[in-house]
Amino acid sequence: MPIQRLAAELVNQIAAGEIIERPASVLKELLENALDAGAQSVQIDIEAGGLTLIRVRDDGRGMTAADLPLAVESHATSKIGALDDLEHIATLGFRGEALPSIASVAALQITSRAAAESHGYCLTPSESATPAPAPHPPGTTVTVRDLFHAVPARRKFLRTERTELRHIQELVRRVALGRPEVGFALTHNGRRLLDLPALGPAAAERRVGELMGSGFVDASLRVDAEAAGLRLQGWLGLPTASRGQPDLQYVYLNGRMIRDRLVMQALRRAYSDVLFKDRYPAYLLHLQMDPARVDVNVHPTKHEVRFRDSRLIFDFLHRQVERALAQGGASAAMVGSPEPAGSADEPRPGGGSMSGAAPAAPAPQTGALALPLAEARAVYSDTLTPPAPEGPAATESVPRLGHAVAQIHGVYVLAESASGLILVDMHAAHERIVYERLKRQYLDDGVARQPLLMPVAVSVTPAEADLVEDSQPLLEAVGLEVDRVGPEQLRLRGVPALLAQADGEALLRDVLADLRVDRGAVAVEQRQQHLLATMGCHGSVRANRRLALAEQENLLREMERTPNIDQCNHGRPTWVSLGMADLDRLFLRGR
Ligand SMILES: Nc1ncnc2c1ncn2[C@@H]1O[C@H](COP(=O)(O)OP(=O)(O)OP(=O)(O)O)[C@@H](O)[C@H]1O
Ligand SMILES: [Mg+2]
Repeated sequence: MPIQRLAAELVNQIAAGEIIERPASVLKELLENALDAGAQSVQIDIEAGGLTLIRVRDDGRGMTAADLPLAVESHATSKIGALDDLEHIATLGFRGEALPSIASVAALQITSRAAAESHGYCLTPSESATPAPAPHPPGTTVTVRDLFHAVPARRKFLRTERTELRHIQELVRRVALGRPEVGFALTHNGRRLLDLPALGPAAAERRVGELMGSGFVDASLRVDAEAAGLRLQGWLGLPTASRGQPDLQYVYLNGRMIRDRLVMQALRRAYSDVLFKDRYPAYLLHLQMDPARVDVNVHPTKHEVRFRDSRLIFDFLHRQVERALAQGGASAAMVGSPEPAGSADEPRPGGGSMSGAAPAAPAPQTGALALPLAEARAVYSDTLTPPAPEGPAATESVPRLGHAVAQIHGVYVLAESASGLILVDMHAAHERIVYERLKRQYLDDGVARQPLLMPVAVSVTPAEADLVEDSQPLLEAVGLEVDRVGPEQLRLRGVPALLAQADGEALLRDVLADLRVDRGAVAVEQRQQHLLATMGCHGSVRANRRLALAEQENLLREMERTPNIDQCNHGRPTWVSLGMADLDRLFLRGR
């Protein structure tokens, strides 16, 4: 075939292929246009999963008769005017591509009235290039019918009406979560599916509760941090409320929903210490920055962005989220303050009581954890044997985790707190304490190592022995001294001093398992952290160990000083609290 110029119609259809994959993508473009026009309220009507009808009506600034034909012309936009404008895009749209693309694959009609006009105009590009007068309140209605009718290739790829509707609902959720100040209503085949009133800033949490479930708000921490011209606000799901899939993760950059690798990695990293593989945190975050610091013009759907100072942004996100999570426990129930009542039939996990905007609290006293090396011993005898060093929390009338009352079946410690009852899983709690100590040492001057008087011989597979040979620097960094002494033989000569009492062979086998899994492109720092967490489990008190009351009390005080204490190294809760109201409810008191 000789080279020939493509017809404008075909060019638009090809361009549409990039932007419009399914009905939800059409809706996304229309909603973005409505928001860019300053709409306060948006009505969305869908029929047959969007295949026959997608209609969006807004009360934004509208378009004049002269605007309308331009709106459906390729590369015509009111949002940028010069190359420079691309460097600081503050609107959701900027390409001038969406409406012409939609017009090339569906029947489009736009009716609009600019605020200053006495009536509106209607344009149906497939019928006429000139708008006709039409009644309309100030604002715009865009109607899209018979999507992909003329593009059978695309139509074939569409799923059932139900699936397309699911995508549409998810989209509306995402958009509405990002803009609580705008009202949204959604109908499908005439049935009302969503009705979200516009909310003031103080009431934004209501929409979050409505769309993410009230469980999310209850089991999350509020974050609001600012540094280096960046602001991060929103809700961080507690590690103990993690999920089996990443389905509740929402990030907005200057009001634009994004799915950005860098942002997701920073969050994954921040959570990695309190959450284990295969678990996903829930979060809803708004990131705000000068639009000049980010390029949104890198991807057709604009979901991915490019930050001009990506390292700084990664560090900011990582640090703020990590800090918020670590302080979660400290800011939970302040000493002596009553905790909000949880639900009687579902006691909330440790930290569940910290929902809402908890008052800022001093960072946990991590300094108190670093043991003088000479004194480093098996950590549990150290932690659990009286007398305890007086921690800051212990000087108050009732410490945050209360006073120990009893131990139950060698597994749980029962304590009386200012607001009711606290139950601690002592093994889980201790796991976290040991891990945080190891980490502290690792960051300060390296994990203190203790040579074994009797080196332990361990038989392994040749592959495992290779692995140990290849991982020497990593193993050394986490306090393990182990060499290969034969094709299938290892010798363990030293372990972290904190784990001197642990079963060396079991420790080494777990480390090997961890090394095997983690081989890949994981950052060294993270692999070390994983290893420390794995090892931390070996230093902790085993279930069925009887603790004296003073030892129980020490465990509670140690917990109060430990960062991230609300969950063990695997993300399970370490303590739960039952307030007096919860207890009263259990006994039907006051009814
Ligand atoms: N709901 C609306 N209310 C007011 N003006 C609108 C509306 N929808 C579209 N317009 C006008 O039509 C123009 C073209 O819209 P279109 O979506 O095609 O491009 P864009 O939003 O500028 O860029 P993008 O292709 O990135 O979405 C917009 O720049 C805007 O001026
Ligand atoms: Mg647009």
